[in-house]
Amino acid sequence: MDITILGIESSCDDTSAAVLRDNRLLSNVIASQAVHVKYGGVIPELASRAHQQNIVPVVDTALKEAGVALSEIDAIAFTRGPGLVGSLLVGVSFAKGLSIARNIPLVEVNHLQGHILSHFIDLPDRELPHPDFPFLCLLVSGGHTQIVRVDSPLEMRIIGTTIDDAAGEAFDKCAKVMGLPYPGGPVIDRLAKEGDPEAFRFARPRVEGYDYSFSGLKTSFLYTLRDRVAEDPDFIERHKADLCASLQHTIVSILLDKLVRASKQTGIRDIAIAGGVSANSGLRDGIVAEGAKRGWRTFLPEFKFTTDNAAMIAMAGRYRYAHGDFSTLDVAPEARLEEL
Ligand code: KG4
Ligand code: ZN
Repeated sequence: MDITILGIESSCDDTSAAVLRDNRLLSNVIASQAVHVKYGGVIPELASRAHQQNIVPVVDTALKEAGVALSEIDAIAFTRGPGLVGSLLVGVSFAKGLSIARNIPLVEVNHLQGHILSHFIDLPDRELPHPDFPFLCLLVSGGHTQIVRVDSPLEMRIIGTTIDDAAGEAFDKCAKVMGLPYPGGPVIDRLAKEGDPEAFRFARPRVEGYDYSFSGLKTSFLYTLRDRVAEDPDFIERHKADLCASLQHTIVSILLDKLVRASKQTGIRDIAIAGGVSANSGLRDGIVAEGAKRGWRTFLPEFKFTTDNAAMIAMAGRYRYAHGDFSTLDVAPEARLEEL
């Protein structure tokens, strides 16, 4: 029997709703919040308010685009965490209200599991390649940098994580000191295409095992700028492309280094990437090149599934539904939900 899931995502600054029938995506609507750009980062209070304004029209549009009535929805999957509590509250409360009003079961989803399981979504008109279990997923976003061993849709384990900043944070913070707009990741990606990745060298971390660290790189980037700008006030403007290319090259090489090690030691060669930073062209090219060298099957998400979206939440909810993992009405959002 076909199972139809309504997904709701509101963990950060995107309000999203999606309808999924088994693995097939019927709609995926995302309202991004422009209000944060002028502050150079997400302002939690403003994010909650914008979610509150967006949630009803976004869910309504997702149902209409899918051509699905509420009476056809088998479960509502929503993001419980991790994320901003005020933002999460909007999605969680909306899901509960709809569940009570229409007597539809609730399924809570861990946002990070959603990013990983986005690799199992098929498009309305086309199937996409899916990894086999077990696979490794490099999950790279604004808040997380992890290597996850995925044994089944519901059994996954973080085997490496950042001990300080996330990769997306490194992109965003370095962009900020160069005076680039928020979020900095996509801007650096674009500027890097014109620059020389070997032009500058920045500090690389020495961390045990599969763990990551990006705060040393950030500091070394900052010191390089400070020293050079002292000699030449136009330094950043004149070397922007080279700075971006070198920074991106360093971040990608740090990410790949541990992933290669994890693949060697676990023997797992189905390798996926997920999360906002998986949109990065340097990382995508780097994974493909490394994969060709090492006999990996590599899985790059469609661009629309890299940043936050409700399609991935519906997909993760579909697996929990199949397992009978329903939530009760006393479920509350969690800012930190690190266990997968
Ligand atoms: O997964 P996501 O949408 O939200 C979180 O859960 O954090 O990830 C957002 C992050 C931001 O740090 C943004 O700069 C980064 O993803 N990002 C990129 C690119 N597109 C988005 N970083 C590097 N290159 C990109 N093309
Ligand atoms: Zn995310």
